[in-house]
Parts: sequence; structure tokens; C-alpha cells
Amino acid sequence: MRRDLRGRSILLTGASRGIGRRVAERLGKLGANLMLTARSTDELDRLATEIRAMGGAAEVVAADLTDPQQRELVVNATVERFGGLDVLINCAGVASFGEFATSTPDVLRKLMEINFFVPADLIRLCQPHLAASAAAGRQPAIVNVASICGRAGIPSFPEHCSSKHALVGLTEALRAEFARYDVDVLLVLPGLVKTDDVARHLLRNEGQIALNYGWAETPENVANGVVKSLVRNTRERATGWIGWWVWFGRRAWPRGIRWAMKRKVRKFAERTAAG
Ligand SMILES: NC(=O)c1ccc[n+]([C@@H]2O[C@H](COP(=O)([O-])OP(=O)(O)OC[C@H]3O[C@@H](n4cnc5c(N)ncnc54)[C@H](OP(=O)(O)O)[C@@H]3O)[C@@H](O)[C@H]2O)c1
Repeated sequence: MRRDLRGRSILLTGASRGIGRRVAERLGKLGANLMLTARSTDELDRLATEIRAMGGAAEVVAADLTDPQQRELVVNATVERFGGLDVLINCAGVASFGEFATSTPDVLRKLMEINFFVPADLIRLCQPHLAASAAAGRQPAIVNVASICGRAGIPSFPEHCSSKHALVGLTEALRAEFARYDVDVLLVLPGLVKTDDVARHLLRNEGQIALNYGWAETPENVANGVVKSLVRNTRERATGWIGWWVWFGRRAWPRGIRWAMKRKVRKFAERTAAG
């Protein structure tokens, strides 16, 4: 199946920068009606102006999605503005880089809130509108932008892995449940991404293992993956070569991946002990 996105009403979270911003630019060119949301009003307004200048349709509703009332407002604004909702893209998210033993319960709760409870609650709010879209033959879908951390446990990302595993679990359960409404539930798993603003993306940046951003994929590459998944209705897609290898390796050779992760941490520990 190919999904035609022209004139489709799309609610996109995390649109102010990074992957979400690039997804918006691509969907704007494909003729979708976009409702862009995040907290940064100025960045959203600039993006909407750019999309309109290219001939696309984009509206803005700024919101802190951790607030339940603001989540409701965002969904209602989309339905009112475009007369319905065809696609929800859950892209807003944060991360934390650092070891669990030196972290705090607050970091875990904040990550679970934005990375799991926000998309879960948005799905609940959007479900009746997506079911109505299906009844009208408009091929509705939900795209959850999780992470390869949602398929494999990566050292120094314990909170991120927990929140993204939860999102992956929800995605898999709803894929079957929402078949009765004819709503497709798709999963995108980026690897390490060259983030626009690391300081804003990472709630904590104190990890001790080596992170090589030289190997990271671009937000543009992930955005291409999100749009391709929507158009081709791809159930699950790992983007970037790091993401793909971890994804593939965990299926084909799970013991090997576990061994490689432990080796990385042990090598770091040896280096630290040697001073
Ligand atoms: N970067 C990576 O290495 C990487 C790897 C794997 C997966 N991912 C996932 O990909 C998605 C996008 O990541 P990214 O790299 O594009 O991150 P980013 O550049 O930091 O963008 C995050 C987006 O989420 C929004 N956001 C954060 N907290 C919010 C809140 N409380 N309410 C509303 N919006 C909020 C931000 O907007 P405001 O600050 O304006 O609110 C921003 O638009 C996330 O789900 C992330 O977990 C990223």
C-alpha cells in the first residue's frame, strides 16, 4: 500500500527542531496539512512561514505536552482547523546520557513522561479521530519515533532505553488492537543522531562511555525514514547504519550484541582504573 499524503491532516510533535523539523519540511512539500507543535513558539512560527512560502499548509499550536490540558488543546486545535485528523507523528522526545548508579529518580520520571506518557496519551486522544478518518477511507496512521534504545539496552542510556522500550511495547500492542479501526501503527528507530542542540536534547550529559558523533546519522536521514515509512506503510524501520546494525544484530546474534556492549563498558572501566 502507498499512502497519499496530499491534503492529509497531520499532527506532528517535536516540530521546532531536529528530526521533527525536517519531517515537517518534507511533509509540507508533499502537500500535507500540518499542525506543528512544541514549546518554542518562535521556531515553530518560522518553520510554518517557510512551509507556507513553499506552497504547503502549516499551522502552529505551541504547547508543553507534559501538561494534559495542553495535549487536549493541541488535538482539538488540529481537528477544528483541518476538519479531522489522519496522521499522528509522535516525535517529541528527550534523552539522558549517564550511568544509572549516579543518576536520580527525577531523570527517570522526566524521561518516562515526555518519551512515553506524552505519546501514549496523545494516541488515546487521537484514536476516535483516526477511526473516523479510516471510516472516510483516508488511510490513517500513527508513527512513533522511538530509538534503537527501544530494541536494545545501551549502556549509559538506562532511562532513555526504559522509556523507548515502553513506547515500542505500546506500539506493538496497539498495532494489533488498532487493526479493528483500520489505523496503522508504525515504528521508526533512529540510531545516534547529530542533534541540533545537544544541551536541550540531553537532560543529563555525564555518560562515561565514548560516544562518537562522527558516526552519527543526520536528522535529515531520520526524517526521510519517517516519511518513507508513512508513504510505504512500513511497520518498523531502523534508520542509519549504527541503528540498522544494532537492530539486525540483536535479531540475528543477540549474544554477540550483549557481548559487545559489555566489552565496551569493561574497556572503559579498565581505562579509568589505569588512570
Ligand atoms: N538525537 C538522537 O540521537 C536520537 C536518537 C534516537 C532517537 N531519537 C528520538 O527522536 C525524536 C526527536 O529527537 P531529536 O534529535 O530531533 O531531538 P531534539 O532536536 O532535541 O528535538 C526534540 C523536540 O521535542 C520537543 N519537546 C521536548 N520536550 C517537550 C515538551 N515538554 N513539550 C513539547 N515538546 C517538547 C522539542 O521542542 P521544544 O524544546 O521547543 O519544546 C523539540 O522540538 C525523540 O523522540 C528522540 O528520542 C533521537
